[in-house]
Amino acid sequence: MKIAVGCDHAGFVLKSAVLEYLKGRAEVLDHGTFSGDRVDYPDIAFKVGRSVSQGEADRGVLLCGTGIGMAIAANKIKGIRAATCNDPELASLSRAHNDLNVLAMGGRVIEPAQVAPILDAWFSTPFEGGRHLIRLDKIAACEASAFNVHFSSVGSVMVLHHPLIQHKMGIIRDKKTTVKEFRELVQELAGLMVYEITRNLPLTEIEVETPLAVTKAFTLSGKKLAVVPVLRAGLGMVDGILQLIPNAKVGHIGLYRDPETLEPVEYYCKLPPDVGEREIFVLDPMLATGGSATAALSLIKDRGAEKISLVSLIAAPEGVNRVQAEHPDVDIFIAALDTHLNEHGYIMPGLGDAGDRLFGTK
Ligand code: PRP
Ligand code: URA
Repeated sequence: MKIAVGCDHAGFVLKSAVLEYLKGRAEVLDHGTFSGDRVDYPDIAFKVGRSVSQGEADRGVLLCGTGIGMAIAANKIKGIRAATCNDPELASLSRAHNDLNVLAMGGRVIEPAQVAPILDAWFSTPFEGGRHLIRLDKIAACEASAFNVHFSSVGSVMVLHHPLIQHKMGIIRDKKTTVKEFRELVQELAGLMVYEITRNLPLTEIEVETPLAVTKAFTLSGKKLAVVPVLRAGLGMVDGILQLIPNAKVGHIGLYRDPETLEPVEYYCKLPPDVGEREIFVLDPMLATGGSATAALSLIKDRGAEKISLVSLIAAPEGVNRVQAEHPDVDIFIAALDTHLNEHGYIMPGLGDAGDRLFGTK
């Protein structure tokens, strides 16, 4: 288990007790502070919160004067459930009922000797789930709207409800939309979707010198990105994404659906050599039977990719089910979940044949 730990000046002494307790029990990610000099607790709380939120650490421990400020600050980070627990009973209940992932304690309220029983209780108590899970789901739903994340999720499927996305989906479905408009809209939709999908990419703090002063800024950290369109129709989504992430590498997978069997036929595959080190977005506007998407995902995994998301404009339940069954580790992002497939394997109500509408081939 990996634990992110942080304190301000008032929690500094308590932090030594926490580090001592964790020695040999867990790997520690120490976010400071490293002396008794005065610091602002939110700076530390956000670092620990982000470590947990982004999966870098499994849980976090924060120490300040009372534990209250740290908990308030950490709770501003998406996915964090932080509370002040200055006694073992609270620590135990915070796990059982609240699945607490960041525990805060106060160096002006408890003695270093009290740290071990509190952490014992916190680490040894499992989350009870059940009715408590229903309540946490309600909090998560509220959090999603507070963070302005316009999606609902069903398992690993995220439907992006952003008003701009839904407005453009209305135009793109319209049979009167021209090839030129269709092509522009596919690009715009891909860009808007990826803007939403990437909102939690990890950032690293950097220093930059403006013409007037040196200031803190951020740069994207962690895994590098690659987009892999499934030919042909996936090509239409590439430029909209590269406008936002110009350094992403681009792979290509050529598949077409046999009109009789509806099974995918592979005709091309060229991927960046380091796919295993990259976060991959597979692009295909239509997820119908799921044959093309599952084949594309298998090809990419065979070459070493591990963190893969599928980005489609419209999906049918059949396609979603197939991808979830064969690739449960892949997150699926869509702008609309339609009702069913017709007898020719087209998504209903859908938008018709995406490749033909994109390239004017019909
Ligand atoms: C379309 C679409 C997907 C696939 C979806 O491609 O772009 O790749 O169908 O259907 P599935 O989920 O049932 O596999 P198509 O085979 O028409 O090729 P194209 O993009 O070259 O037109
Ligand atoms: N491919 C498309 O382009 N459209 C569909 O509805 C299904 C597969």
